[in-house]
Amino acid sequence: MKTVYLETFGCQMNELDSELVRGHLESLGYSFTTETDDADVLLFNTCSVREHAESKAYSRVGIVGKRKKAGEKLILGVLGCMAERDGVDMLRRYPQIDLLCGPGELDKLPMLIDNVVRTAALEHPMAADIEDRVALAGNTSRRSAALSASADDLETLDLARAFDPDRATSGVRSAYVRITRGCNKFCTYCVVPYTRGAEVHRPPDSIVEECRRLAASGVIEVTLLGQTVNHYRYTHGMAVTLDGREQPQIGPGLSAFRNETVDDPNLTTFAKLLARIHDEVPELSRIRFLTSYPKDFGHDVLEVMASRPRICRYLHVPVQSGSNRILKLMNRGYTVEEYLEFTDRVLEVLPDATIAGDIIVGFPTETDEDFELTKDLLRRVPYKNNFIFKYSPRPGTTAINRFEDDVPLDVKKLRNNQLLALQAEIGAAVHAEWVGREVDVLVERITNRSPISDAAPSAADPRISLGAALAPAKGPRDHPSSLAVQISGRTPGDLITVLNVPTRDRAEQLLGTIVRVRIEGSGPLILHGRMVDLDATVPDKLRH
Ligand code: SAH
Ligand code: SF4
Ligand code: F3S
Repeated sequence: MKTVYLETFGCQMNELDSELVRGHLESLGYSFTTETDDADVLLFNTCSVREHAESKAYSRVGIVGKRKKAGEKLILGVLGCMAERDGVDMLRRYPQIDLLCGPGELDKLPMLIDNVVRTAALEHPMAADIEDRVALAGNTSRRSAALSASADDLETLDLARAFDPDRATSGVRSAYVRITRGCNKFCTYCVVPYTRGAEVHRPPDSIVEECRRLAASGVIEVTLLGQTVNHYRYTHGMAVTLDGREQPQIGPGLSAFRNETVDDPNLTTFAKLLARIHDEVPELSRIRFLTSYPKDFGHDVLEVMASRPRICRYLHVPVQSGSNRILKLMNRGYTVEEYLEFTDRVLEVLPDATIAGDIIVGFPTETDEDFELTKDLLRRVPYKNNFIFKYSPRPGTTAINRFEDDVPLDVKKLRNNQLLALQAEIGAAVHAEWVGREVDVLVERITNRSPISDAAPSAADPRISLGAALAPAKGPRDHPSSLAVQISGRTPGDLITVLNVPTRDRAEQLLGTIVRVRIEGSGPLILHGRMVDLDATVPDKLRH
Protein backbone atom coordinates (compact mmCIF):
# COMPACT_ATOMS: atom_id res chain seq x y z
CA MET A 1 0.00 0.00 0.00
CA LYS A 2 1.03 3.60 -0.51
CA THR A 3 2.85 5.72 2.04
CA VAL A 4 1.87 9.37 2.10
CA TYR A 5 3.75 12.52 3.10
CA LEU A 6 1.35 15.42 3.64
CA GLU A 7 2.58 18.95 4.31
CA THR A 8 0.27 21.81 5.20
CA PHE A 9 0.62 25.52 4.47
CA GLY A 10 -1.77 28.33 5.39
CA CYS A 11 -4.53 28.74 7.90
CA GLN A 12 -6.27 26.59 10.51
CA MET A 13 -8.88 25.68 7.89
CA ASN A 14 -6.11 23.97 5.94
CA GLU A 15 -4.82 22.22 9.06
CA LEU A 16 -8.27 20.79 9.63
CA ASP A 17 -8.58 19.79 5.96
CA SER A 18 -5.27 17.96 6.22
CA GLU A 19 -6.42 16.12 9.34
CA LEU A 20 -9.61 15.03 7.56
CA VAL A 21 -7.74 14.00 4.41
CA ARG A 22 -5.35 11.98 6.52
CA GLY A 23 -8.19 10.21 8.34
CA HIS A 24 -9.93 9.48 5.05
CA LEU A 25 -6.81 8.05 3.39
CA GLU A 26 -5.88 6.04 6.49
CA SER A 27 -9.33 4.47 6.53
CA LEU A 28 -8.58 3.30 2.98
CA GLY A 29 -5.32 1.67 4.03
CA TYR A 30 -2.76 4.39 3.30
CA SER A 31 -0.06 4.95 5.87
CA PHE A 32 1.59 8.27 6.67
CA THR A 33 5.18 9.34 7.18
CA THR A 34 6.85 12.58 8.23
CA GLU A 35 9.89 11.88 6.03
CA THR A 36 9.67 12.83 2.36
CA ASP A 37 12.17 10.08 1.52
CA ASP A 38 9.92 7.32 2.86
CA ALA A 39 6.83 8.39 0.90
CA ASP A 40 5.60 7.41 -2.52
CA VAL A 41 2.71 9.89 -2.48
CA LEU A 42 3.67 13.49 -1.66
CA LEU A 43 0.83 15.91 -1.06
CA PHE A 44 1.07 19.64 -0.41
CA ASN A 45 -2.00 21.33 1.04
CA THR A 46 -1.40 24.88 -0.09
CA CYS A 47 -2.35 28.50 0.64
CA SER A 48 -2.81 31.39 -1.79
CA VAL A 49 -3.45 34.24 0.56
CA ARG A 50 -0.14 36.00 -0.13
CA GLU A 51 2.47 35.50 -2.81
CA HIS A 52 4.98 34.44 -0.20
CA ALA A 53 2.76 31.51 0.85
CA GLU A 54 2.64 30.35 -2.76
CA SER A 55 6.38 30.60 -3.33
CA LYS A 56 7.07 28.47 -0.25
CA ALA A 57 4.82 25.73 -1.61
CA TYR A 58 6.26 26.01 -5.12
CA SER A 59 9.76 25.52 -3.81
CA ARG A 60 8.66 22.33 -1.99
CA VAL A 61 6.89 21.13 -5.14
CA GLY A 62 10.03 21.92 -7.14
CA ILE A 63 12.20 19.68 -4.96
CA VAL A 64 9.86 16.71 -5.43
CA GLY A 65 9.60 17.53 -9.13
CA LYS A 66 13.39 17.19 -9.47
CA ARG A 67 13.30 13.77 -7.81
CA LYS A 68 10.63 12.69 -10.26
CA LYS A 69 12.63 13.96 -13.22
CA ALA A 70 15.58 11.99 -11.90
CA GLY A 71 13.46 8.87 -12.28
CA GLU A 72 11.91 8.28 -8.85
CA LYS A 73 8.39 6.89 -9.05
CA LEU A 74 6.46 9.33 -6.91
CA ILE A 75 2.96 10.75 -6.99
CA LEU A 76 2.96 14.52 -6.49
CA GLY A 77 -0.29 16.23 -5.60
CA VAL A 78 -1.16 19.86 -4.95
CA LEU A 79 -4.22 20.32 -2.74
CA GLY A 80 -5.95 23.36 -1.34
CA CYS A 81 -6.25 26.99 -2.27
CA MET A 82 -3.37 27.22 -4.78
CA ALA A 83 -4.76 24.32 -6.75
CA GLU A 84 -8.13 26.02 -6.89
CA ARG A 85 -6.69 29.44 -7.77
CA ASP A 86 -4.22 28.35 -10.42
CA GLY A 87 -6.28 25.53 -11.89
CA VAL A 88 -5.11 23.26 -14.68
CA ASP A 89 -2.73 25.95 -15.81
CA MET A 90 -0.50 24.75 -12.99
CA LEU A 91 -0.34 21.29 -14.56
CA ARG A 92 0.83 22.79 -17.83
CA ARG A 93 3.54 24.80 -16.14
CA TYR A 94 4.57 22.00 -13.79
CA PRO A 95 4.10 18.71 -15.64
CA GLN A 96 5.66 16.89 -12.67
CA ILE A 97 2.46 17.54 -10.71
CA ASP A 98 0.19 14.50 -11.00
CA LEU A 99 -2.98 15.74 -9.39
CA LEU A 100 -4.79 18.86 -8.27
CA CYS A 101 -7.52 18.95 -5.68
CA GLY A 102 -9.28 22.14 -4.55
CA PRO A 103 -10.33 22.65 -0.92
CA GLY A 104 -13.97 22.06 -1.82
CA GLU A 105 -13.26 18.70 -3.48
CA LEU A 106 -11.07 16.93 -0.96
CA ASP A 107 -13.51 14.04 -0.63
CA LYS A 108 -12.47 13.09 -4.19
CA LEU A 109 -8.76 12.84 -3.37
CA PRO A 110 -8.57 9.02 -3.04
CA MET A 111 -10.19 8.68 -6.46
CA LEU A 112 -7.64 11.07 -7.98
CA ILE A 113 -4.75 9.14 -6.45
CA ASP A 114 -6.23 5.90 -7.79
CA ASN A 115 -6.56 7.39 -11.25
CA VAL A 116 -2.93 8.47 -11.24
CA VAL A 117 -1.81 5.02 -10.10
CA ARG A 118 -3.84 3.37 -12.85
CA THR A 119 -2.62 5.76 -15.53
CA ALA A 120 0.98 5.20 -14.48
CA ALA A 121 0.47 1.46 -14.86
CA LEU A 122 -0.45 1.92 -18.51
CA GLU A 123 2.31 1.55 -20.99
CA HIS A 124 1.33 4.66 -22.92
CA PRO A 125 -0.38 7.01 -20.51
CA MET A 126 -2.52 9.40 -22.48
CA ALA A 127 -2.22 13.11 -22.06
CA ALA A 128 -5.99 13.39 -22.30
CA ASP A 129 -6.47 12.12 -18.78
CA ILE A 130 -6.25 15.56 -17.19
CA GLU A 131 -9.82 15.64 -15.93
CA ASP A 132 -9.22 12.33 -14.14
CA ARG A 133 -6.45 13.95 -12.13
CA VAL A 134 -8.09 17.23 -11.30
CA ALA A 135 -10.94 18.07 -8.93
CA LEU A 136 -11.66 21.77 -8.66
CA ALA A 137 -14.85 23.56 -7.75
CA GLY A 138 -14.23 26.24 -10.36
CA ASN A 139 -16.39 28.34 -8.13
CA THR A 140 -19.55 26.64 -9.35
CA SER A 141 -20.93 26.66 -5.84
CA ARG A 142 -21.66 30.37 -6.15
CA ARG A 143 -24.00 29.85 -9.10
CA SER A 144 -26.91 28.25 -7.31
CA ALA A 145 -28.66 29.70 -4.33
CA ALA A 146 -29.78 26.35 -2.96
CA LEU A 147 -27.23 23.70 -2.27
CA SER A 148 -28.26 20.31 -3.52
CA ALA A 149 -27.32 17.35 -1.38
CA SER A 150 -25.28 15.82 -4.18
CA ALA A 151 -23.33 19.05 -4.66
CA ASP A 152 -22.19 18.90 -1.11
CA ASP A 153 -20.25 15.69 -0.90
CA LEU A 154 -17.65 17.58 1.06
CA GLU A 155 -19.90 17.42 4.09
CA THR A 156 -19.28 13.68 4.13
CA LEU A 157 -15.61 14.37 4.77
CA ASP A 158 -16.40 16.38 7.91
CA LEU A 159 -18.98 13.82 8.99
CA ALA A 160 -16.61 10.91 8.46
CA ARG A 161 -13.97 12.45 10.70
CA ALA A 162 -11.96 9.84 12.53
CA PHE A 163 -12.30 10.07 16.30
CA ASP A 164 -9.03 8.97 17.72
CA PRO A 165 -9.45 7.19 21.05
CA ASP A 166 -5.74 7.74 21.70
CA ARG A 167 -6.25 11.46 22.03
CA ALA A 168 -6.89 11.18 25.75
CA THR A 169 -3.39 9.85 26.29
CA SER A 170 -1.47 11.41 23.41
CA GLY A 171 -1.72 14.95 24.65
CA VAL A 172 -3.54 16.06 21.50
CA ARG A 173 -6.68 17.13 23.23
CA SER A 174 -7.53 20.15 21.15
CA ALA A 175 -9.45 19.97 17.87
CA TYR A 176 -10.79 22.21 15.14
CA VAL A 177 -14.44 21.92 14.15
CA ARG A 178 -15.69 23.57 10.99
CA ILE A 179 -18.94 25.48 11.26
CA THR A 180 -18.82 27.49 8.02
CA ARG A 181 -16.99 26.96 4.77
CA GLY A 182 -16.13 29.66 2.26
CA CYS A 183 -16.68 33.39 2.50
CA ASN A 184 -19.14 35.88 1.03
CA LYS A 185 -17.34 39.06 2.01
CA PHE A 186 -15.13 39.76 -1.01
CA CYS A 187 -12.68 42.06 0.71
CA THR A 188 -10.97 43.50 -2.36
CA TYR A 189 -7.49 42.11 -1.57
CA CYS A 190 -8.53 38.57 -0.67
CA VAL A 191 -8.48 35.30 -2.64
CA VAL A 192 -10.42 33.25 -0.10
CA PRO A 193 -13.93 33.80 -1.59
CA TYR A 194 -12.51 32.53 -4.91
CA THR A 195 -10.59 29.56 -3.54
CA ARG A 196 -13.09 28.42 -0.91
CA GLY A 197 -16.27 29.46 -2.68
CA ALA A 198 -19.54 30.64 -1.23
CA GLU A 199 -20.29 30.71 2.48
CA VAL A 200 -21.90 27.41 3.46
CA HIS A 201 -23.10 26.71 6.99
CA ARG A 202 -23.12 23.21 8.43
CA PRO A 203 -26.24 22.00 10.21
CA PRO A 204 -26.06 22.68 13.97
CA ASP A 205 -26.89 19.06 14.81
CA SER A 206 -23.86 17.85 12.82
CA ILE A 207 -21.62 20.35 14.59
CA VAL A 208 -22.87 19.51 18.09
CA GLU A 209 -22.59 15.79 17.34
CA GLU A 210 -19.01 16.23 16.11
CA CYS A 211 -18.13 18.12 19.31
CA ARG A 212 -19.74 15.38 21.38
CA ARG A 213 -17.79 12.66 19.63
CA LEU A 214 -14.53 14.58 19.90
CA ALA A 215 -15.15 15.04 23.62
CA ALA A 216 -15.84 11.32 23.95
CA SER A 217 -12.47 10.60 22.32
CA GLY A 218 -10.66 12.79 24.85
CA VAL A 219 -10.79 16.30 23.37
CA ILE A 220 -11.18 19.06 25.97
CA GLU A 221 -10.83 22.11 23.72
CA VAL A 222 -12.59 22.76 20.41
CA THR A 223 -11.99 25.72 18.16
CA LEU A 224 -14.90 26.43 15.84
CA LEU A 225 -13.68 27.52 12.42
CA GLY A 226 -15.07 29.84 9.80
CA GLN A 227 -13.73 32.87 7.90
CA THR A 228 -16.45 34.97 9.54
CA VAL A 229 -17.79 32.76 12.34
CA ASN A 230 -20.27 35.36 13.57
CA HIS A 231 -22.04 35.16 10.20
CA TYR A 232 -23.06 31.62 11.04
CA ARG A 233 -26.79 31.11 10.68
CA TYR A 234 -28.86 28.11 9.85
CA THR A 235 -32.55 28.22 8.96
CA HIS A 236 -34.26 24.98 9.89
CA GLY A 237 -36.78 23.15 7.77
CA MET A 238 -35.28 24.23 4.44
CA ALA A 239 -32.97 21.49 3.27
CA VAL A 240 -33.67 18.04 4.63
CA THR A 241 -32.74 14.70 3.09
CA LEU A 242 -35.20 11.81 2.78
CA ASP A 243 -33.95 10.35 6.05
CA GLY A 244 -34.69 13.63 7.81
CA ARG A 245 -31.13 14.89 8.18
CA GLU A 246 -30.48 18.55 7.67
CA GLN A 247 -28.07 19.61 4.94
CA PRO A 248 -25.46 22.36 4.81
CA GLN A 249 -26.87 25.66 3.70
CA ILE A 250 -25.65 28.58 1.59
CA GLY A 251 -25.31 31.72 3.70
CA PRO A 252 -27.91 34.44 3.26
CA GLY A 253 -27.18 37.89 1.84
CA LEU A 254 -25.69 40.36 4.23
CA SER A 255 -29.06 42.10 4.61
CA ALA A 256 -29.97 39.11 6.78
CA PHE A 257 -28.04 40.73 9.60
CA ARG A 258 -30.20 43.83 9.59
CA ASN A 259 -33.47 43.92 11.54
CA GLU A 260 -33.65 40.18 11.94
CA THR A 261 -35.50 38.58 14.78
CA VAL A 262 -32.88 36.45 16.44
CA ASP A 263 -35.44 34.74 18.63
CA ASP A 264 -36.95 33.05 15.57
CA PRO A 265 -37.10 29.39 16.69
CA ASN A 266 -36.36 28.30 13.12
CA LEU A 267 -33.05 30.10 13.08
CA THR A 268 -29.81 28.96 14.71
CA THR A 269 -27.57 32.00 15.01
CA PHE A 270 -23.92 31.87 16.01
CA ALA A 271 -24.92 32.82 19.56
CA LYS A 272 -27.39 29.94 19.76
CA LEU A 273 -24.86 27.52 18.29
CA LEU A 274 -22.28 28.50 20.91
CA ALA A 275 -24.84 28.12 23.68
CA ARG A 276 -25.89 24.69 22.38
CA ILE A 277 -22.31 23.39 22.25
CA HIS A 278 -21.57 24.75 25.72
CA ASP A 279 -24.74 23.33 27.27
CA GLU A 280 -24.92 20.03 25.39
CA VAL A 281 -21.24 19.04 25.57
CA PRO A 282 -20.27 19.68 29.20
CA GLU A 283 -17.09 17.58 28.83
CA LEU A 284 -15.49 20.38 26.80
CA SER A 285 -13.43 22.62 29.06
CA ARG A 286 -12.82 25.20 26.37
CA ILE A 287 -14.89 26.36 23.42
CA ARG A 288 -13.17 28.87 21.14
CA PHE A 289 -13.84 30.29 17.70
CA LEU A 290 -11.95 31.85 14.78
CA THR A 291 -12.23 34.30 12.97
CA SER A 292 -14.71 36.99 13.98
CA TYR A 293 -15.76 39.67 11.52
CA PRO A 294 -15.97 43.12 13.16
CA LYS A 295 -19.34 43.85 11.64
CA ASP A 296 -22.55 42.00 12.49
CA PHE A 297 -21.16 40.68 15.78
CA GLY A 298 -24.41 40.67 17.69
CA HIS A 299 -24.74 41.54 21.35
CA ASP A 300 -26.38 38.12 21.71
CA VAL A 301 -22.97 36.46 21.20
CA LEU A 302 -21.39 38.56 23.97
CA GLU A 303 -24.27 37.70 26.29
CA VAL A 304 -23.87 33.98 25.62
CA MET A 305 -20.13 34.31 26.29
CA ALA A 306 -20.74 36.23 29.51
CA SER A 307 -23.16 33.64 30.85
CA ARG A 308 -21.18 30.54 29.88
CA PRO A 309 -17.80 30.17 31.55
CA ARG A 310 -16.36 27.49 29.29
CA ILE A 311 -16.60 29.72 26.21
CA CYS A 312 -13.18 31.33 25.99
CA ARG A 313 -13.12 35.09 26.25
CA TYR A 314 -10.86 35.42 23.28
CA LEU A 315 -11.66 37.23 20.06
CA HIS A 316 -9.61 37.25 16.90
CA VAL A 317 -11.22 40.19 15.18
CA PRO A 318 -8.99 41.65 12.44
CA VAL A 319 -9.33 45.36 11.70
CA GLN A 320 -6.93 45.42 8.67
CA SER A 321 -6.48 49.22 8.74
CA GLY A 322 -7.09 52.24 10.95
CA SER A 323 -8.01 54.51 8.03
CA ASN A 324 -11.63 54.77 6.96
CA ARG A 325 -10.56 55.63 3.43
CA ILE A 326 -8.50 52.41 3.17
CA LEU A 327 -11.20 50.31 4.88
CA LYS A 328 -13.57 51.51 2.19
CA LEU A 329 -11.18 50.57 -0.61
CA MET A 330 -10.81 47.18 1.07
CA ASN A 331 -14.62 46.76 1.08
CA ARG A 332 -14.56 45.88 4.77
CA GLY A 333 -17.97 47.43 5.39
CA TYR A 334 -17.23 49.14 8.74
CA THR A 335 -15.56 52.31 9.94
CA VAL A 336 -12.86 52.71 12.56
CA GLU A 337 -15.47 54.25 14.84
CA GLU A 338 -17.74 51.22 14.47
CA TYR A 339 -14.82 48.89 15.12
CA LEU A 340 -13.87 50.76 18.30
CA GLU A 341 -17.48 50.82 19.45
CA PHE A 342 -17.38 47.05 19.11
CA THR A 343 -14.10 46.42 20.95
CA ASP A 344 -15.19 48.82 23.72
CA ARG A 345 -18.44 46.90 24.05
CA VAL A 346 -16.56 43.58 24.21
CA LEU A 347 -14.39 44.81 27.08
CA GLU A 348 -17.37 46.28 28.87
CA VAL A 349 -19.32 43.00 28.78
CA LEU A 350 -16.25 40.75 29.18
CA PRO A 351 -13.59 42.74 31.05
CA ASP A 352 -11.14 39.81 30.96
CA ALA A 353 -11.44 39.29 27.21
CA THR A 354 -8.31 39.22 25.09
CA ILE A 355 -8.37 40.65 21.60
CA ALA A 356 -6.12 39.78 18.67
CA GLY A 357 -6.16 41.03 15.11
CA ASP A 358 -4.66 41.25 11.63
CA ILE A 359 -3.38 44.35 9.84
CA ILE A 360 -2.39 44.83 6.21
CA VAL A 361 0.22 47.54 5.57
CA GLY A 362 0.88 49.09 2.18
CA PHE A 363 -2.55 48.59 0.68
CA PRO A 364 -2.67 50.57 -2.61
CA THR A 365 -2.71 54.36 -2.06
CA GLU A 366 -1.96 54.01 1.68
CA THR A 367 -0.32 57.31 2.71
CA ASP A 368 1.75 58.17 5.77
CA GLU A 369 -1.40 59.77 7.19
CA ASP A 370 -3.40 56.55 6.68
CA PHE A 371 -0.62 54.62 8.33
CA GLU A 372 -0.55 57.01 11.30
CA LEU A 373 -4.26 56.34 11.74
CA THR A 374 -3.53 52.61 11.92
CA LYS A 375 -0.96 53.28 14.62
CA ASP A 376 -3.52 55.40 16.51
CA LEU A 377 -5.97 52.53 16.37
CA LEU A 378 -3.39 50.07 17.67
CA ARG A 379 -2.70 52.38 20.61
CA ARG A 380 -6.41 52.54 21.34
CA VAL A 381 -7.17 48.75 21.49
CA PRO A 382 -5.41 46.46 24.00
CA TYR A 383 -4.38 43.86 21.42
CA LYS A 384 -2.60 40.84 22.83
CA ASN A 385 -1.14 40.34 19.37
CA ASN A 386 -1.60 41.40 15.79
CA PHE A 387 -0.55 39.54 12.69
CA ILE A 388 0.88 42.18 10.39
CA PHE A 389 1.05 41.53 6.66
CA LYS A 390 2.49 43.47 3.75
CA TYR A 391 -0.12 43.87 1.03
CA SER A 392 0.37 41.26 -1.67
CA PRO A 393 -1.61 41.69 -4.89
CA ARG A 394 -3.46 38.46 -5.65
CA PRO A 395 -4.54 37.42 -9.14
CA GLY A 396 -8.30 37.37 -9.56
CA THR A 397 -9.09 39.82 -6.77
CA THR A 398 -10.75 43.20 -7.25
CA ALA A 399 -7.81 45.09 -5.76
CA ILE A 400 -5.30 43.81 -8.29
CA ASN A 401 -7.55 44.87 -11.15
CA ARG A 402 -8.64 48.16 -9.71
CA PHE A 403 -5.56 49.55 -7.96
CA GLU A 404 -1.90 49.81 -8.74
CA ASP A 405 0.34 48.22 -6.07
CA ASP A 406 1.87 51.66 -5.58
CA VAL A 407 3.37 51.49 -2.08
CA PRO A 408 7.05 50.60 -2.60
CA LEU A 409 8.32 47.46 -0.91
CA ASP A 410 10.74 49.35 1.33
CA VAL A 411 7.87 51.52 2.59
CA LYS A 412 5.79 48.39 3.25
CA LYS A 413 8.73 46.89 5.15
CA LEU A 414 9.25 50.05 7.17
CA ARG A 415 5.57 50.25 8.11
CA ASN A 416 5.55 46.55 8.91
CA ASN A 417 8.52 46.94 11.25
CA GLN A 418 7.11 50.03 12.91
CA LEU A 419 3.84 48.25 13.61
CA LEU A 420 5.65 45.19 14.94
CA ALA A 421 7.54 47.40 17.36
CA LEU A 422 4.39 49.22 18.43
CA GLN A 423 2.48 45.95 18.82
CA ALA A 424 5.35 44.58 20.95
CA GLU A 425 4.88 47.53 23.34
CA ILE A 426 1.11 47.05 23.44
CA GLY A 427 1.44 43.28 23.80
CA ALA A 428 3.94 43.74 26.64
CA ALA A 429 1.51 46.00 28.51
CA VAL A 430 -1.41 43.58 27.96
CA HIS A 431 0.64 40.61 29.14
CA ALA A 432 2.09 42.52 32.12
CA GLU A 433 -1.42 43.02 33.49
CA TRP A 434 -1.61 39.29 34.16
CA VAL A 435 1.42 39.21 36.43
CA GLY A 436 0.38 38.25 39.94
CA ARG A 437 -2.82 36.55 38.80
CA GLU A 438 -3.64 32.86 38.59
CA VAL A 439 -4.69 31.37 35.28
CA ASP A 440 -5.61 27.94 33.91
CA VAL A 441 -3.16 26.73 31.28
CA LEU A 442 -3.87 23.92 28.84
CA VAL A 443 -0.43 22.32 28.54
CA GLU A 444 0.45 21.66 24.92
CA ARG A 445 4.12 20.94 24.60
CA ILE A 446 7.43 20.32 26.22
CA THR A 447 9.55 23.20 25.05
CA ASN A 448 12.96 22.12 26.25
CA ARG A 449 14.75 19.70 28.50
CA SER A 450 16.48 22.23 30.63
CA PRO A 451 16.32 25.99 31.03
CA ILE A 452 19.83 26.38 29.67
CA SER A 453 19.14 24.41 26.52
CA ASP A 454 18.74 26.37 23.27
CA ALA A 455 16.00 24.07 22.03
CA ALA A 456 13.27 26.25 20.56
CA PRO A 457 9.69 25.45 21.38
CA SER A 458 7.08 25.82 18.72
CA ALA A 459 4.46 28.46 19.25
CA ALA A 460 0.82 27.56 19.75
CA ASP A 461 -0.22 29.44 16.66
CA PRO A 462 1.78 28.60 13.56
CA ARG A 463 1.57 32.22 12.51
CA ILE A 464 3.46 33.40 15.58
CA SER A 465 7.16 33.39 14.94
CA LEU A 466 9.09 31.37 17.44
CA GLY A 467 11.49 34.18 18.16
CA ALA A 468 8.65 36.49 19.04
CA ALA A 469 6.85 33.94 21.16
CA LEU A 470 9.95 33.36 23.17
CA ALA A 471 11.07 36.91 23.59
CA PRO A 472 12.72 36.96 26.99
CA ALA A 473 10.08 37.23 29.62
CA LYS A 474 10.60 39.74 32.37
CA GLY A 475 10.46 38.20 35.78
CA PRO A 476 12.22 35.54 37.73
CA ARG A 477 14.40 33.30 35.57
CA ASP A 478 16.29 31.79 38.46
CA HIS A 479 14.43 28.53 38.70
CA PRO A 480 15.81 26.10 41.15
CA SER A 481 17.69 23.50 39.17
CA SER A 482 15.06 20.97 40.25
CA LEU A 483 12.63 22.60 37.81
CA ALA A 484 14.52 21.40 34.81
CA VAL A 485 11.87 20.95 32.14
CA GLN A 486 10.00 23.77 30.46
CA ILE A 487 6.45 23.28 29.22
CA SER A 488 4.12 25.66 27.46
CA GLY A 489 0.43 26.05 26.88
CA ARG A 490 -2.30 28.64 26.57
CA THR A 491 -4.73 30.41 28.88
CA PRO A 492 -8.43 30.56 27.97
CA GLY A 493 -7.61 33.97 26.49
CA ASP A 494 -4.99 32.36 24.22
CA LEU A 495 -2.03 33.87 26.08
CA ILE A 496 0.99 31.64 25.61
CA THR A 497 2.34 30.65 29.02
CA VAL A 498 5.59 28.88 29.86
CA LEU A 499 6.43 27.21 33.16
CA ASN A 500 8.92 24.75 34.52
CA VAL A 501 8.42 21.34 36.11
CA PRO A 502 10.97 19.03 37.74
CA THR A 503 11.16 16.09 35.36
CA ARG A 504 10.39 15.04 31.84
CA ASP A 505 8.01 12.37 33.16
CA ARG A 506 6.09 14.99 35.04
CA ALA A 507 6.00 17.18 31.92
CA GLU A 508 4.64 14.31 29.85
CA GLN A 509 1.98 13.59 32.45
CA LEU A 510 0.82 17.18 32.28
CA LEU A 511 0.50 17.33 28.48
CA GLY A 512 -3.14 17.80 27.54
CA THR A 513 -4.22 18.73 31.05
CA ILE A 514 -5.25 22.07 32.45
CA VAL A 515 -3.03 23.31 35.26
CA ARG A 516 -3.35 26.28 37.56
CA VAL A 517 -0.45 28.67 37.13
CA ARG A 518 0.56 31.75 39.05
CA ILE A 519 1.92 34.33 36.60
CA GLU A 520 5.26 35.77 37.68
CA GLY A 521 6.62 37.44 34.58
CA SER A 522 5.67 38.51 31.08
CA GLY A 523 6.96 39.61 27.69
CA PRO A 524 5.38 41.06 24.53
CA LEU A 525 3.88 37.70 23.52
CA ILE A 526 4.29 35.45 26.49
CA LEU A 527 3.51 34.85 30.15
CA HIS A 528 5.85 33.11 32.53
CA GLY A 529 4.64 31.35 35.64
CA ARG A 530 4.80 28.65 38.24
CA MET A 531 2.43 25.78 38.84
CA VAL A 532 0.30 26.44 41.90
CA ASP A 533 0.18 22.83 42.97
CA LEU A 534 3.46 21.46 41.71
CA ASP A 535 3.30 18.48 44.02
CA ALA A 536 -0.10 17.13 43.03
CA THR A 537 0.76 13.59 42.07
CA VAL A 538 -1.95 12.65 39.60
CA PRO A 539 -2.90 15.31 37.08
CA ASP A 540 -6.62 15.70 36.92
CA LYS A 541 -7.26 15.06 33.25
CA LEU A 542 -10.87 16.14 33.49
CA ARG A 543 -10.41 19.36 35.33
CA HIS A 544 -12.47 22.21 33.91
N1 SAH B 1 -11.41 35.75 7.29
C1 SAH B 1 -10.43 36.40 8.03
C2 SAH B 1 -9.06 36.44 7.40
C3 SAH B 1 -8.58 35.36 6.51
S1 SAH B 1 -7.08 35.69 5.64
C4 SAH B 1 -10.88 37.84 8.22
O1 SAH B 1 -11.51 38.41 7.39
O2 SAH B 1 -10.52 38.39 9.21
C5 SAH B 1 -5.97 36.07 6.99
C6 SAH B 1 -5.37 37.43 6.90
O3 SAH B 1 -4.50 37.52 5.80
C7 SAH B 1 -6.34 38.58 6.70
O4 SAH B 1 -6.95 38.98 7.87
C8 SAH B 1 -5.47 39.66 6.11
O5 SAH B 1 -4.90 40.45 7.13
C9 SAH B 1 -4.36 38.88 5.42
N2 SAH B 1 -4.46 38.97 3.96
C10 SAH B 1 -5.44 38.47 3.19
N3 SAH B 1 -5.20 38.77 1.90
C11 SAH B 1 -4.03 39.46 1.87
C12 SAH B 1 -3.27 40.06 0.83
N4 SAH B 1 -3.65 40.01 -0.43
N5 SAH B 1 -2.11 40.68 1.18
C13 SAH B 1 -1.72 40.75 2.47
N6 SAH B 1 -2.40 40.21 3.48
C14 SAH B 1 -3.55 39.59 3.19
FE1 SF4 C 1 -10.95 37.29 2.97
FE2 SF4 C 1 -12.49 39.28 3.79
FE3 SF4 C 1 -13.47 36.80 3.63
FE4 SF4 C 1 -11.70 37.38 5.50
S1 SF4 C 1 -13.74 38.23 5.30
S2 SF4 C 1 -11.70 35.58 4.18
S3 SF4 C 1 -10.37 38.83 4.47
S4 SF4 C 1 -12.81 38.08 1.92
FE1 F3S D 1 -4.70 30.37 2.68
FE2 F3S D 1 -6.82 29.24 1.72
FE3 F3S D 1 -6.55 29.56 4.32
S1 F3S D 1 -5.78 30.94 0.84
S2 F3S D 1 -5.39 31.42 4.46
S3 F3S D 1 -5.31 28.29 3.03
S4 F3S D 1 -8.42 29.71 3.16
